[in-house]
Amino acid sequence: MKNYFSTHDIQNIQELINQALELKKSNTSLELGKGKTLGLLFFNPSLRTRLSTEKAGKLLGMDVMTMNAGKDGWALEFEDGAIMNSDKAEHIKEAAGVLSQYCDIIGVRAFPELIDRDKDEEEQVLKSFQKYASVPVINLESATGHPLQALTDAITITELKDKPKPKVVLTWAPHTKALPQSVPNSFAEIMQKIDVDFVITNPKGYDLNPKVTGDVKVIHDQEEALKDADFVYVKNWSSYENYGKVLSTEKDWTFNQQKLKHTNNAKVMHCLPVRRNVVIADDVLDSPNAVVLQQAGNRTFAAQAVMKRILENLD
Ligand code: CP
Repeated sequence: MKNYFSTHDIQNIQELINQALELKKSNTSLELGKGKTLGLLFFNPSLRTRLSTEKAGKLLGMDVMTMNAGKDGWALEFEDGAIMNSDKAEHIKEAAGVLSQYCDIIGVRAFPELIDRDKDEEEQVLKSFQKYASVPVINLESATGHPLQALTDAITITELKDKPKPKVVLTWAPHTKALPQSVPNSFAEIMQKIDVDFVITNPKGYDLNPKVTGDVKVIHDQEEALKDADFVYVKNWSSYENYGKVLSTEKDWTFNQQKLKHTNNAKVMHCLPVRRNVVIADDVLDSPNAVVLQQAGNRTFAAQAVMKRILENLD
């Protein structure tokens, strides 16, 4: 593995999941990353991605540097040939080039603006780092994807399943603001790569990008979709069709014990942070069905498995 931009960079998903679970079991530090530096740049807030990736880097023996690039760094110019006489003080060409002098792997988080779909889908920030950095780049959540979260989710389902092919339901839930489609996109991608019976349920108007969902069954009746589910992944996202818009709050889509009753006593997942009693009710989050903490714990091993592959491939 040279870079990790999306789940499509995974060559053998089962091998990578097994690797992560082995790393979790062995719970030991490795020497592989000794003398190497991991640099993490955040243009947006984070708790889990920041700390789990830092921890993973350290477990691999790397030195780790983290920067709140959106707050502490110079405002970056991404346009080629720009006359930089306005508010942007540094061009991505120099920024990525300089970071490559200090780091052996660079991680970048850059959320979408949710205004112009074509622009967000260009993934300008992540792709510019890829273009101008001379070291591998990892996606820490971009405009359209969150592949480290998705790998974590596949690891968690593999770890907790009690049948060869569990039913996994991704259900939309309400939120107070417009959120990106990055988490559900990557989750939908990775579920199509592992052996699960995968269904998506969301209100009409919230269908994800059909290029991402492909042949996955999308059911607009939440109750029907939840029937016999072994895992329920709860997540809000804004409209893809009416890009970035919140169409309605659909309060009756909040995931609660009532909804859980339709499932096969499902394990309930969420990438976190989660707004209690808006997205998922207390009666589910505080029940044994919620596996969100174990899921968040697996973030470290997903990041460790990905960066181990990248370190093994460094020239
Ligand atoms: N799930 C996730 O990416 O969490 P953070 O936004 O806190 O990193």
